Formats: sequence, structure tokens, C-alpha cells
Amino acid sequence: MRRAWWKTLGYDAVDINLGCPAKKVVKCGGSGLLRELPLLEDIFKSVRAAVKIPLTIKLRAGWDDKSIVALEVVKMAEQVGIEAAAIHPRTRAQGYTGKADWNIIAAVKQAVKIPVIGNGDVQSPEDAVRLGERDGM
Ligand SMILES: Cc1cc2nc3c(=O)[nH]c(=O)nc-3n(C[C@H](O)[C@H](O)[C@H](O)COP(=O)(O)O)c2cc1C
Repeated sequence: MRRAWWKTLGYDAVDINLGCPAKKVVKCGGSGLLRELPLLEDIFKSVRAAVKIPLTIKLRAGWDDKSIVALEVVKMAEQVGIEAAAIHPRTRAQGYTGKADWNIIAAVKQAVKIPVIGNGDVQSPEDAVRLGERDGM
């Protein structure tokens, strides 16, 4: 019998990157998909159906501060059977600057059962502890 391709290649998991802010990437993927939730849901369903190993997502908070969609996207991911979500709580508009909004990580963590990985502005072990001690984490 033919071995499934993901076993042949030796991968342990597949992560869908919804974080990349690069101009050439947002045209066809990365954080650009946070503006197209119906399409994103179709992608989640298709990839979930095709991949038997753990499937995770990494996402930004949203496209800009008027369209924060992290909660909606992670709930959708959970419904589709995605196994964990890593949140970088900056918007695409922020790029790599400005403050990471840890409130977004906490709000998502409270709303879903799948593991939520938070990051952004964690520059020391103390920062990591402070993030973990937020209400709802
Ligand atoms: C130059 C650069 C490239 C990055 N590339 C990726 C990537 O390919 N995939 C990914 O999940 N995160 C990527 N990140 C995001 C980081 O993993 C992380 O989410 C973010 O930097 C956390 O915020 P912080 O810089 O405030 O700690 C990148 C970050 C930087 C600065």
C-alpha cells in the first residue's frame, strides 16, 4: 500500500501561516486571508480533510484595528477541527511595530477549548510569566 505523503516526508504537523504581513504574501495568503473569512473557512476545511497529522494556525489579530478577527477565526478553526492556534496580537497594519495586545490572546483563550499559544512583546522570562498570569489564561 502507498504510504501517505505526509508520513513519507516525515512531518509531525502542518501550520497554516495567517501572520505574514509581507506585501507579496498578503496578495495570496498570510495575514491577507484575515480579510476573507468565507474563503479562509473553505481553506481550513480542505486542509483539514487532506491532513491527518496535527493541524495548527498562526494568526495576527486582524488586518487593521477596525477589523480584529482573531476570536472569530480561532472559533472557526476549532469548529473545523484545527488543533491549536498561535496568536500574534498585532494587526497586519502594525507590521512588526507598536504594542502587541495581550487582551486579544486572553479573550480567545477564554472562548475556545483548543490550546492557544500567545506571543508578542515577550522579551524576558518575566514577560512570559506576566502573559501567563493574565485573567483567563
Ligand atoms: C522578520 C520576522 C519574520 C517572521 N516570520 C515568521 C514566520 O515565518 N512565521 C511565523 O509564524 N511567525 C513569524 N514571525 C513572527 C514571530 O514569530 C512572532 O509572532 C512575533 O515576532 C512576536 O512578536 P514580538 O516580535 O513582539 O516578540 C516573524 C517575525 C519577524 C520579526
